[in-house]
Amino acid sequence: MTQDKLKKIVGCAALEYIKPDMVVGVGTGSTVAYFIDRLATKKHLIKGAVSSSVASTDKLISLAIPIIDSKDLDGVDIYIDGANEFNPDLMMIKGGGAALTREKVIAAMAKQFIAIADKSKQVDILGEFPLPVEVIPMARSYVSRQLVKLGGMPEYRQNVVTDNGNVILDIYNLKILNPIALENKINAIAGVVTVGLFANRAADIILLATLDGVKKLTAKA
Ligand code: 5RP
Repeated sequence: MTQDKLKKIVGCAALEYIKPDMVVGVGTGSTVAYFIDRLATKKHLIKGAVSSSVASTDKLISLAIPIIDSKDLDGVDIYIDGANEFNPDLMMIKGGGAALTREKVIAAMAKQFIAIADKSKQVDILGEFPLPVEVIPMARSYVSRQLVKLGGMPEYRQNVVTDNGNVILDIYNLKILNPIALENKINAIAGVVTVGLFANRAADIILLATLDGVKKLTAKA
């Protein structure tokens, strides 16, 4: 089975968690795109969707799914998003699609955070996927130097401007043994908007597409 087929299966599986009157946070990426397609079938039941990117907003609008501005909400009932990597604690690297900051805000607002992923995203130790950091443009060189001091090899993502008008540095060569500590350290660097480590706010559930079907993973106690 192709990876794309697995993404479709798990994107569809997330629909089961969407109940009437929910405010649904919607992530970004190719797996979530399949979820949005399915969400359209429940668009008359939900209160609305809160989007994490211009790309997802455009797709929601094209399917006439009602959109709610996060500024008008106290919280979000459920947040469905993809991941680039996740570990056994359901901590993740996200931001391959450059939407990490808005994704992190919605994750923070969410009562329940469900990540949808295929088997290729499952790792024991985070860091093989280059860790994205959203940075304000004038701080790019300064932040790069600080990231080198942390042992990483930051690379400027060419020709990418985030929905917030910022740039992305992707950090290669990391073996993230303490994701919470690293998230806090990188977020504390002046000029960093946010790092794509979702460790302080990990997923509550990961729906994992495998060749044997969709598995529901929860963090080990
Ligand atoms: C976007 C993200 C995505 O969730 C992540 O890149 C996974 O994408 P895909 O489902 O296309 O593999 O973090 O910023």
